[in-house]
Amino acid sequence: TRTIYTAGRPPWYNSAGQQVEPFVIGICGGSASGKTTVATKIIESLDVPWVTLLSMDSFYKVLNEKQHEMAARNEYNFDHPDAFDFELLKTTLQRLKEGRMVEVPIYNFVTHRRESRTKTMYGANVIIFEGILTFYNVDVLKMCDMKVFVDTDADVRLARRLRRDISQRGRDLEGVLKQYSTMVQPAFYYYIAPLMVHADIIVPRGGDNEVAIELIVQHVHTQLQLRGFKLREKLAHSYIGQPLP
Ligand code: C5P
Repeated sequence: TRTIYTAGRPPWYNSAGQQVEPFVIGICGGSASGKTTVATKIIESLDVPWVTLLSMDSFYKVLNEKQHEMAARNEYNFDHPDAFDFELLKTTLQRLKEGRMVEVPIYNFVTHRRESRTKTMYGANVIIFEGILTFYNVDVLKMCDMKVFVDTDADVRLARRLRRDISQRGRDLEGVLKQYSTMVQPAFYYYIAPLMVHADIIVPRGGDNEVAIELIVQHVHTQLQLRGFKLREKLAHSYIGQPLP
């Protein structure tokens, strides 16, 4: 397994001494569609140093007491665009794109709160940004160099979500089903599914789709090379058929 780099290094410079802007991949898709798996597989196959994974979960708004009570009853709508702090998201992504350091909130799905500590992230060669509404905000959309929509059947997503929310997010069966039918499913059809029109590539079945992941990785390699990033010789050779000068 390869390390997912999220910290530690100033932005990349090309041979002309110019700062290379990170390549941003936006990954959008319904809850439990396999967005994180797709992101992780892209990172593993990329074989490029300094890849940062940013999740929309970090940008859930801080709730007041009344909203916490609703969340405890599975009645707070975490799938509506209003649940997210898009301003913080925009500035964070913009700073990362400029190769600057950011402090990103860490979200806890059990308590519905941000942890007291944050995660420090630095500029990277590739930034992968994933979430249910990553294509919703037009400014954020414009910052994505490649837009990927993960399209997984609703029954598969519900099955995964049940398993995950009960085992990892402190929920019970009745609560998950109530939240799913009243908010998660309607928001998917109303807000998330229509975002597919923005996608450059739609990945059916999610993380199992090795061919789609390979195509994405090839595109990122080509784009990085065009920006002056030197791929390791072995990798570059397999794409362009001859060693780098
Ligand atoms: O990881 P995934 O993309 O599934 O995360 C998004 C989902 O997390 C949303 O569908 C939302 O219903 C759920 N969520 C939750 N409780 C929170 C925050 C988000 O159930 N406190």
